[in-house]
Amino acid sequence: MTELIPAPRSIVSGSGEVRLTAHSQLYADTGTQGVGHWLRTALRQATGLPLREGREPGDAGGDGIGLQLDPGLGPEEYRLVSDGNGVLIEGGSPAGVFWGAQTLRQLLGPDAYRRAPLGRDRAWAVPYLTIRDAPRFRWRGLMLDVARHFMRKDDVLRCLDLMAAHKLNVFHFHLTDDQGWRIQIERHPRLTEIGSWRARTKTGHRASPLWEEKPHGGYYTQDDIREIVAYAAERHITVVPEIDVPGHSQAAIAAYPELGNTDVIDTTALSVWDTWGINPNVLAPTDNTLRFYEGVFEEVLELFPSEFVHVGGDECPKDQWRRSETAQARIRELGLADEDELQSWFIGHFDAWLTARGRRLIGWDEILQGGLAKGAAVSSWRGYAGGIAAARAGHDVVMCPEQQVYLDHRQDPGPDEPVPIGWVRTLEDVYRFEPVPPELTPEEARHVLGTQANVWTEVMEDPARVDYQTFPRLAAFAEVAWSVLPAPAERDFAGFERRMTAHYRRLDALGVAYRPPAGPLPWQRRPGVLGRPIDGPPPHR
Ligand code: ACM
Repeated sequence: MTELIPAPRSIVSGSGEVRLTAHSQLYADTGTQGVGHWLRTALRQATGLPLREGREPGDAGGDGIGLQLDPGLGPEEYRLVSDGNGVLIEGGSPAGVFWGAQTLRQLLGPDAYRRAPLGRDRAWAVPYLTIRDAPRFRWRGLMLDVARHFMRKDDVLRCLDLMAAHKLNVFHFHLTDDQGWRIQIERHPRLTEIGSWRARTKTGHRASPLWEEKPHGGYYTQDDIREIVAYAAERHITVVPEIDVPGHSQAAIAAYPELGNTDVIDTTALSVWDTWGINPNVLAPTDNTLRFYEGVFEEVLELFPSEFVHVGGDECPKDQWRRSETAQARIRELGLADEDELQSWFIGHFDAWLTARGRRLIGWDEILQGGLAKGAAVSSWRGYAGGIAAARAGHDVVMCPEQQVYLDHRQDPGPDEPVPIGWVRTLEDVYRFEPVPPELTPEEARHVLGTQANVWTEVMEDPARVDYQTFPRLAAFAEVAWSVLPAPAERDFAGFERRMTAHYRRLDALGVAYRPPAGPLPWQRRPGVLGRPIDGPPPHR
């Protein structure tokens, strides 16, 4: 059972196995008790074994599990040794031990992912082996868009469990957009009272003629957010919140019309957007807007301890600013050349604001337009170019090119894909994705913090659709983000597919509605207009 995903740096197999029994103990040394708690809970559920607490390292015995820190290892590095002394997982930090615990769960077989024992007599065995492992990148991200379709808190927590099982460690939480505002902000209650609901929703691609004629919405209370952040932290996942400015803001403007360009349109007539695409209704570059969003970010900083805070910054059409006397006056007053520089000034304001509070701004690569804000990091989504330019200018980068790792894009050229949009990106395409472009020198490449897969949900109305689009491709992505792989053309995709055979059984045990290798199941298909491939840009373009 060593078909591990993502693949570790090295495995040396021995002969023999550690058998976990009712007598097996789990000893968690100083600093690893959190991981011990997680592992005991997960394995008790699946195996029914008590895994009593050992009190000293020796207690674990030949059939136990020991967890401890080894300061000689890198922060996320771990070593897992299974031999006559039992299973010992050592990590350079609790995170390293946690990733080792994830590997142990894979070694125990797919049933180790179940939430109750199957009631049959069975052996829980870990083959004798030594695994040494460490991630390639420190940012191994998944972005989930809960604005286009709201995802209930329980499903978000499940998503964090699935990330942890794949050794992903950054959850980019896309909380606000034109179609919904999903986080409670106490000082601006209308953001969720008004901004979290839309009256109806375009069904499928924006070119589809169909509507779902019922309200859609929801939001997370601040306690929900605290719970999500804490649950993620227990899994060594950082939650990076995204609050979009100055574009993708119609839901906020619908709630507070004074945030929009009131001298150009009647913003009181706007409602939360019910279709997809790039929205012209953007924030007005006024002091009132800045103060409003400073208030939003103050509450956001209290909830999210993450170093990085994402401010969006993508797809901000400048038409209203061109027509707005207020925006034009601001351009003159600041001595700016044009509307692109106004956007840069807007982002720069929040960059300075966040920096003064010990945080760092990250935004989509459009924040490069009109000059990159000092200290800002970039999510490179329109290909690699933004990331290359940013890295060369000394800014940190997360590579998430839409051509490669946008998981809303169809995953097969066949006629049955239920989300028939965007480019075809198969499991193999994702497996051959390389986050560091060859154009970067080794020095510049150090600015690539890592990579991220993005799940935009315009055409994913429920968690089952999200599962279908996300899996199995997230498994390939996880290997790209974690493992040290050869150049794309040399990667052993056949070997990965063989390991996926075991991984599908894990996903089955977890209840993930992935795309089966042979194509969608009958209930996963979407007939008629919705099932017809749309040639052209994905719905957010
Ligand atoms: C994006 O896909 N607009 C970041």
